[in-house]
Amino acid sequence: MTRKRILTGDRPTGPLHLGHYVGSLQNRVRLQDEYETYLLIADVQALTDNFEHPEKLEANIFEVALDYLAVGLDPEKVQFVVQSMVPELTELTIYFMNLVTVATLERNPTLKEEIKQKNFTKGLPVGFYTYPISQAADITIFKAHLVPVGEDQLPMIEQSREIVRRFNRLYDRVLVEPKALLGGVARLPGTDGGGKMSKSIGNCIYLGDSSETVRKRVMSMYTDPTRIRPTDPGHVEGNPVFTYHDVFNPDKAEVEELKDRYRKGAVGDVEVKERLFKALDEFLTPIRERRIEFASKPEWVKEIIVEGTRKGRAIAQDTMAEVRTAMKISYKL
Ligand code: TRP
Repeated sequence: MTRKRILTGDRPTGPLHLGHYVGSLQNRVRLQDEYETYLLIADVQALTDNFEHPEKLEANIFEVALDYLAVGLDPEKVQFVVQSMVPELTELTIYFMNLVTVATLERNPTLKEEIKQKNFTKGLPVGFYTYPISQAADITIFKAHLVPVGEDQLPMIEQSREIVRRFNRLYDRVLVEPKALLGGVARLPGTDGGGKMSKSIGNCIYLGDSSETVRKRVMSMYTDPTRIRPTDPGHVEGNPVFTYHDVFNPDKAEVEELKDRYRKGAVGDVEVKERLFKALDEFLTPIRERRIEFASKPEWVKEIIVEGTRKGRAIAQDTMAEVRTAMKISYKL
């Protein structure tokens, strides 16, 4: 192995948004020359809370691949891998289940949060409860060194590290202990100022959104709730409109000037939002245009997914042969 590896992924439950971009996509683009990169389109994980609507997945696998291409991930360098087409992942997940206690899953803060949010009315499915184990298989079957993710995924990486240490101690030193790589922005709030962008809440700006949609989302963004008139002194800290300016407006002098006037009560929300819309639209336009272009070549996109999955599966098969040998279940039958 010459270059170190990256493995990360996304659930194909819809197109990707700005939160995905600053959390992980940006790092993937930046590192695609330096690392051998595999991107998992995690349909098996998506099923754990969408098993009643499996028909959603196929179209969204394509949407996620389009987003990857649109942000500049180069299929010559980066492999797109469909999780369900690598059945070795399922096998490794089962072996890993022996190395994880229920108490450890119970303590996973992201899992806890999601269980609360998803409000499983017919009881908590075992498949959902154990997805952190399946995610550890995703990462380790590729022997990934680095996992670019958003902050909410840190408990999953920690779980993977624990499993690797246990496996290597118990059986043989086959697996690589992965490290998380966080995005430049700790957490991009939703347009409602909430914790993060989430499809189910409807507070997202998608990478493929049209100019009109972006404008609508920006103009309806939450700002400083304590400010009633544009002449009231406003708060910049914790104000999502300024958080977005900080991240997406390359004209830092303009941002400072707007903040200054906002604090003094010398600028209205509308002007601040108009300038944010302009910055965001300039950022999104090339992405949107590439996305439209790639969407017109579905056969080519499909070929990329098939080829990436083939390469990814070959790696998974190699690792599983080593895993079975280490576990002494590589029978000569
Ligand atoms: N849990 C990730 C998410 O919800 C998706 C994912 C699946 C993933 N497998 C992974 C991320 C492996 C990093 C590594 O976005």
